Amino acid sequence: MIFPNDFLNKIICGDGVEIMKQLPDGSVDLAVTSPPYNLKNSTGNGMKDGRGGKWANAALQNGYTHHEDTMPHDEYVAWQRANLTEMMRLISDDGAIFYNHKWRVQDGLLQDRQDIVNGFPVRQIIIWRRKGGINFNAGYFLPTYEVIYLIAKKKFKLASKANALGDVWEFTQEMNNPHPAPFPVELIERIIGSTKAHVILDPFMGSGTTAIAARNLGRSYIGIDISPDYCKMAEKRLGGEVLKRVKNQSKIQSHQMELIPQ
Ligand SMILES: C[S@@+](CC[C@H](N)C(=O)[O-])C[C@H]1O[C@@H](n2cnc3c(N)ncnc32)[C@H](O)[C@@H]1O
Repeated sequence: MIFPNDFLNKIICGDGVEIMKQLPDGSVDLAVTSPPYNLKNSTGNGMKDGRGGKWANAALQNGYTHHEDTMPHDEYVAWQRANLTEMMRLISDDGAIFYNHKWRVQDGLLQDRQDIVNGFPVRQIIIWRRKGGINFNAGYFLPTYEVIYLIAKKKFKLASKANALGDVWEFTQEMNNPHPAPFPVELIERIIGSTKAHVILDPFMGSGTTAIAARNLGRSYIGIDISPDYCKMAEKRLGGEVLKRVKNQSKIQSHQMELIPQ
């Protein structure tokens, strides 16, 4: 595959790290992404049952189509660091990564994802406050926020006046999207619109939300997802081309439940 023609404004179906390795250094301005959270791992920072929730519609109970989300914690951290390393190589000298994740307390220990982001130039943390959700556990307040790490190269600057937006953003989670964990389009429009980026990469593109937001703002995108089903979903939303890189991949049925603090 040759850059830019085979990548720009395409959804590429395949493994994020493998596909990113085919792109030249500095070929994108911005990466915006939300990886799987490894929610079904029960040894490091997993969740135990299906109550309380990240996604109010409980869609994640059925899991992702081609990712089980049950890696041993150390393996998961190494995988996420490999993704961030590639994203860092791909963003230009004035580029940045917006990396969405979730903090959690388990057995009194704060899982703040430091093991994933350690050594990367984290400049700021943005709180994404979602609305609603369901929590049947009387021992905990309803969890309503996620974090977005702004990981930026030295020359990265926000677009004019974007700094006035502050660092706590409120956006209702997406309800009308068959993907189990979609971004709200408005959240990604906020991120992209806060930058001067021309080419935006999402290596965990899911249903194509980052691409939709980029296109809405007149920017270009490169989207990658391992699941042919989600690539098709993105294709349908975008009305564009999907390059099928995954062949004969077996369908893994995950039974991911909603998150509850432990
Ligand atoms: C939290 S979801 C992203 C949802 C997306 N932000 C949206 O708005 O639809 C994480 C995605 O990572 C994908 N994924 C899992 N393993 C992957 C891999 N090795 N390479 C690329 N994508 C992968 C899953 O299929 C899932 O769609």
